[in-house]
Amino acid sequence: MDTSKHSKKLSRRTFIAASGAVATGLAFSRSAFAKTETLAIDGGAPVVKYPANRIAALTKWPRYGKAEKARLHELIETNKYYEELPLFEQEWQKYTGAQFVKAHMNGSSALTSMYFALDLPPGSEIMVPSYTFFSACLAMRFFGLVPVFVDIDPKTACFDLEDAKRKLTPNVKAVEAMHSWGLPCELDRISEWCKEKGLILLEDAAHAHGASMQGKKMGTWGAMGIYSFQTSKVMPTIEGGMGMYQSREHFERAAAFGHYEDPIKFPETSPVRAYVGTGFGQKYRMYPMAAALAREQLKSLDKTNAIVAKNVRAMNDRLTQLPGITEPRCRDDQQRAYYWANLLFVDYKQAGITRDALVKALKAEGVNASFWDYPQQHKLTIYSEAKWWHHPPAIPESMPGNESVNANHIFMPLVYGDAPELIDQYVKAFEKVWAHRDKVAAT
Ligand SMILES: Cc1ncc(COP(=O)(O)O)c(C=O)c1O
Repeated sequence: MDTSKHSKKLSRRTFIAASGAVATGLAFSRSAFAKTETLAIDGGAPVVKYPANRIAALTKWPRYGKAEKARLHELIETNKYYEELPLFEQEWQKYTGAQFVKAHMNGSSALTSMYFALDLPPGSEIMVPSYTFFSACLAMRFFGLVPVFVDIDPKTACFDLEDAKRKLTPNVKAVEAMHSWGLPCELDRISEWCKEKGLILLEDAAHAHGASMQGKKMGTWGAMGIYSFQTSKVMPTIEGGMGMYQSREHFERAAAFGHYEDPIKFPETSPVRAYVGTGFGQKYRMYPMAAALAREQLKSLDKTNAIVAKNVRAMNDRLTQLPGITEPRCRDDQQRAYYWANLLFVDYKQAGITRDALVKALKAEGVNASFWDYPQQHKLTIYSEAKWWHHPPAIPESMPGNESVNANHIFMPLVYGDAPELIDQYVKAFEKVWAHRDKVAAT
């Protein structure tokens, strides 16, 4: 968490004394203030007074401006569509520091190519969170690979290394970590374990554009990784994806799986060079208009992430003072991104409220809060039907981490502009509902 420069100047003792007194005073005065008001669900005035059209503009996603429109217009006139692809690849490679990258038509095709590139014998197992997108698990079956479903840590919503340790079998050859909602998995610990056990580390960075750990961008920690640029993502191109590779061998196999035009570009000595004209059977090329959008979006990625992070900090520093509300744990050496929403954990039991009642009360106050249960892959039909698998995946009885995150969260909107008043009104709405939560619980 960010510590302000100002607080660093204070001695530890004066800081604790001062911040404690201020925090207690603020929390008291805020909740006393909120308690005297009537909830909007009971006919009181909603807290959020910010004009609805300005909220819509501040929270709109994706955001394409004049530059994107001009680029698309220009491109359609030039007939040089395909030149966008290597240009975007070069820019993305430079931005992330990956050894090799390959643009794909979406994140799912990048995942499929990655599993092909592994070149593992059928029956090999890959550890993957059950709390993920279907293609991260299902694409394995095309190559006889088998998912081993791993839980998430309820404090981060990311890969639970301890659960992985419990589930390790001799057939496990690789581990795939997914940086949920833009928060990096603890890849230092995970990669150390992978090294110790001789496992290949893979990354699903579909949510984590611009995020890094120890100064290293997500997607470059693993032997291979992927990004998605689908329309909801942190860097959206409507559809699009990227494969990230640390070795030439993986890069060439993954690229040639869905790019028949690539083997001719590889060195004469490459084992993939023989497949000129065919590649390995798919056509996964990124749509050039998407690459043009990506090049524009990349220019503002860090700036947009910084605005979002600043707004989240302003919101979460206050919301987490309310009993029962916490945010996903982010280490000092992790620079996270925020995908889609600001995920907060709410201990509904401790708060004495249900999430339906909370969201209803917040919406009435003018806060576009929501919740969404991430599909747990291991519960979906296709994984329990043996006919689709080289050998059927083990279906765990329960995933306490998944269940905890699904049951105990709330999503607050991300704000993409400078709007301290709006953030303040969102927080006040929360404080008002919190002060009346016994009443809200009874609705
Ligand atoms: C975690 C995760 N991995 C992979 C993907 C696949 O990306 P795409 O939709 O571009 O195929 C998604 C998409 O939502 C995702 O959320």
